Amino acid sequence: MAVLIDTTRTIARINPALHGQFIEFLGECIDGGIWVGPDSEIPHTDGIRQGVLDALKELEPPVLRWPGGCYADTYHWRDGIGPREQRPTTFNENFGTYELDDHAFGTDEYLALCEAIGAQPWINVNMMTGTPAEAREWMEYCNRSGGTDLAALRAANGHEAPYDVRLWGIGNEPWGGGGTMTPSSYVDAYRAFASSMPRFTGSVFETPATYPIASGPDGNKPQERVTWTRDFFRALTAYRQPPIAGYDLHFYNWNIDHEDDTPTAFDQAGWDRVIAGCLELEDVIVEQWGLIEEGLDAVPMPESSLDTRLERIDLVVGEWGNWHRDAFFVRPALRQQVTMRDAITTALTLDILQRHADKISIACNAQTVNVLNSLILTDGDATVLTPNYDVFMMYKAHRGATALAVEPIDAASGVHAFASVADDGTVLVNLTNPSMTDAADVTLEFAAPVRIARRETLAAQTPTLHNTVGAPDAVRRVVEALDADAATTHVVHLPAGSVTVLHAMPARS
Ligand code: AHR
Repeated sequence: MAVLIDTTRTIARINPALHGQFIEFLGECIDGGIWVGPDSEIPHTDGIRQGVLDALKELEPPVLRWPGGCYADTYHWRDGIGPREQRPTTFNENFGTYELDDHAFGTDEYLALCEAIGAQPWINVNMMTGTPAEAREWMEYCNRSGGTDLAALRAANGHEAPYDVRLWGIGNEPWGGGGTMTPSSYVDAYRAFASSMPRFTGSVFETPATYPIASGPDGNKPQERVTWTRDFFRALTAYRQPPIAGYDLHFYNWNIDHEDDTPTAFDQAGWDRVIAGCLELEDVIVEQWGLIEEGLDAVPMPESSLDTRLERIDLVVGEWGNWHRDAFFVRPALRQQVTMRDAITTALTLDILQRHADKISIACNAQTVNVLNSLILTDGDATVLTPNYDVFMMYKAHRGATALAVEPIDAASGVHAFASVADDGTVLVNLTNPSMTDAADVTLEFAAPVRIARRETLAAQTPTLHNTVGAPDAVRRVVEALDADAATTHVVHLPAGSVTVLHAMPARS
């Protein structure tokens, strides 16, 4: 048996935004993690911790979602603009944190971070305690080029040019902490928020400059997620449709039922359980895509040329990642260490998202710094990169490439495979060996001879090993430039519990 890689079996272009990130005012993700403030002795640029900034500049996350999450449901954007000493102090009690919030990191600080790292902003508006007017004014503050008081206020706060924020999330998990709404009460609220979004273009017939994202279901609740999506689209399409571009599903890989399983102490069963858990996302995507199509198919053809029939809504996975039991009890809140177990689920989740590049436009890892499936952990003045950071770096080459239809699991070895072809013809092959104990050999069969020019491997000496301030490089990727002959068949040796990315060049190059 071999893994067959045929570059004519294409799926779709991988939207770089599938490699997005999510940051929130929660635990030490922003305060103390990303944001140390302009008076800090920790090295920083304009208050952004230098270690985090440097790592994110190298990673170039294509999208950065903010300010939440649950936090967005009570956030009032005006609290976070203007001179910092005049900003109010409020409280944030999400996840039992009872933290004070001085609003030092607000809209302008967030958008400066996006500009510095080359990320497209995704702002989630407050639908629970906020109003359509407040959201509309936030959009005006960010995007109106000039002529209004809010555009002038943005200029006075240091940014003359509009930020052109395109992605706007309407609500967050409204079925839960975001308002305990029903699908129909959410649709009614969504209609008001989405319909009041300013266009800032000349004509109503132009494509809106904004990309409104509706809140999809709790991806972890099989029955509820079907009902939520079906009822949402029934209610949405029953009457004239408000603007909608994306539909945001959240999927966490819960590992909370085993008291003795922690992020850095687990047995074989815990290793296998967590890896198997992340794979459920694949079925959820297929199911949700089917429900969206069913919903759109039910829309009657427009009778008037002023009605526009929705032809497509993108699926978005606005939050995903591993959620271990410890996260609920630790302080700072939701902080987790990261081992190869997490790195493997991160790789497999990215494989799933990329394999469904024809359905999904944006996805965000939850979260980037110090919370849940972190890429970066901070400790005092130190910044440590986790193995998840390495996975995202290894996968960077897939951004903008074309996903290929490859059998996802090699029956002979149990190894997971994904491949894409870049515009220059380089074939990128991911091979993830999920076995905690056994190395594996995989045979790759290409339609035409290729030369494997580069290999990146992430593996650990022991499954529970992780990076710390004292040992920041305990689990880091190894990059090798190779000089092998071109061939159609290649046998690749994979260490136990490892992620490998190969760059295969067509024989002629
Ligand atoms: O990522 C942590 C939390 O998980 C977010 O605030 C919320 O949207 C989700 O329930």
